[in-house]
Amino acid sequence: MHFVKMTGAFGISTFMIMLLVEIQQLSTVAATGTADLNHLVNGTSLKFNNQSDKCTLPGLDKCSCFWIKGDPRELLDSITCNGLGFTNMSVLSSVGDTVKTIVFTGNDLEILNASVLSSATNLRSLDISSNNIKTVMPGSLSGLPRLEELILNNNSWLVDEETCPKILQNIPLKKLYLNNAFARNYNATMKYVTDLRTLFGSCVLGSLEVLQLESNNLYFVDSDIFCNMPKLQTLDLSHNKISELPCNGTCLASVQDMFLHDNRLSHISHDCISEIKKPELKLSRIKLDITDNPFTCDCDILDQYEWLVDNSTSTHVYKKDKLLCRFPNKLTGQAILNLQKSDFVCPSYVSGNNKLKFLPIIFSLLFAVVAFGLLLLVFSKRHQIRNLFGGRQRSASRLTAGYSSMDA
Ligand SMILES: *[C@@H]1O[C@H](CO)[C@@H](O)[C@H](O)[C@H]1NC(C)=O
Ligand SMILES: *[C@@H]1O[C@H](CO)[C@@H](O)[C@H](O)[C@H]1NC(C)=O
Ligand SMILES: *[C@@H]1O[C@H](CO)[C@@H](O)[C@H](O)[C@H]1NC(C)=O
Ligand SMILES: *[C@@H]1O[C@H](CO)[C@@H](O)[C@H](O)[C@H]1NC(C)=O
Repeated sequence: MHFVKMTGAFGISTFMIMLLVEIQQLSTVAATGTADLNHLVNGTSLKFNNQSDKCTLPGLDKCSCFWIKGDPRELLDSITCNGLGFTNMSVLSSVGDTVKTIVFTGNDLEILNASVLSSATNLRSLDISSNNIKTVMPGSLSGLPRLEELILNNNSWLVDEETCPKILQNIPLKKLYLNNAFARNYNATMKYVTDLRTLFGSCVLGSLEVLQLESNNLYFVDSDIFCNMPKLQTLDLSHNKISELPCNGTCLASVQDMFLHDNRLSHISHDCISEIKKPELKLSRIKLDITDNPFTCDCDILDQYEWLVDNSTSTHVYKKDKLLCRFPNKLTGQAILNLQKSDFVCPSYVSGNNKLKFLPIIFSLLFAVVAFGLLLLVFSKRHQIRNLFGGRQRSASRLTAGYSSMDA
């Protein structure tokens, strides 16, 4: 959406086209539910290029430049270099301090050394998606004291515990897009968790309002991380493998929208439900997308069911009538809200408040023990038993032999 900022630089006709694109984006967002800005932004930048002017700066002739008031004699406002095979950003070294937006996507940077952008001291938005970035050099963004939006989608970023403090901490970032941003070559699945915690650990991002972490194979997200992001309003964790809702209302103090579409939530825990119901927490009034999760409709989902059916709660659960049971098998595909409280049962040995429910199991165990004992007995006496039967058989065959010899 950062393209909106550029509209000032265009004539009325361009503005109208932008408006149409925006409306299209908004309706797509409304239709899909999750604001998948990654794809939308990429899609828009392509359309956007058609409306652009050729850059006159050396080395940038294939890029698109946009000037304040749309006039090349005016000050340069933004630059887009998409899919041009650049291996470093040095062509941008003298863009100057009027530039507010740089889109440098689909090239092949591997290492981001944005110190080359140090002439762009007024840069507000930097989109470096799809650049195969593995390393972001420490301090590489520190020459951009006004950077509010950083888009690092679709890269292979190898992060460690120094990453956030050294790279992101002292920038007034409001929007950080890290969809499918991290390296995939880790072995252990839990490594991703460690790395997200490692990345944000104690790193203070005091201005951050929007954080997107879609499609990163995340298994667990610790709410504590967000205690250092006191202004965070939108948290997008869609398309991961998260099985627990982050729900610490103290840390998620300003969050208004939380997206967990397509994850591995089987229940929202009892503790989370009680936290999210506390009226004094802003968390109780969030808009929450938990669609496309494999809910297990057993006794443990009762809290969640009661919370969902209660129309007096202030939480806005997106498409709550479309939340489906994945398990148990007999309820697969049923909408949670179409079921009755009595449908949410646990197998008796799981709930087990009532001792009577254990009786069938105790009887089966007893039966198994007795049967095993009998088998052992038979086995230990097998010689006697064989003699018993074998003896009769032998005497019988002797008799037969006797008759045959007599016949012969
Ligand atoms: C990053 O860029 C700065 C300025 O151009 C340069 O001094 C530095 O050596 C570069 N670092 C790397 C690792 O390329
Ligand atoms: C992601 O980046 C790679 C190059 O690093 C590119 O080939 C691919 O098309 C990008 N995917 C999207 C969805 O932009
Ligand atoms: C993954 O694990 C295997 C064996 O455990 C190891 O040989 C390999 O180097 C590991 N790869 C990475 C990227 O850590
Ligand atoms: C939320 O996190 C803070 C800081 O880590 C912690 O002190 C607090 O106990 C947590 N609250 C809940 C309900 O877990």
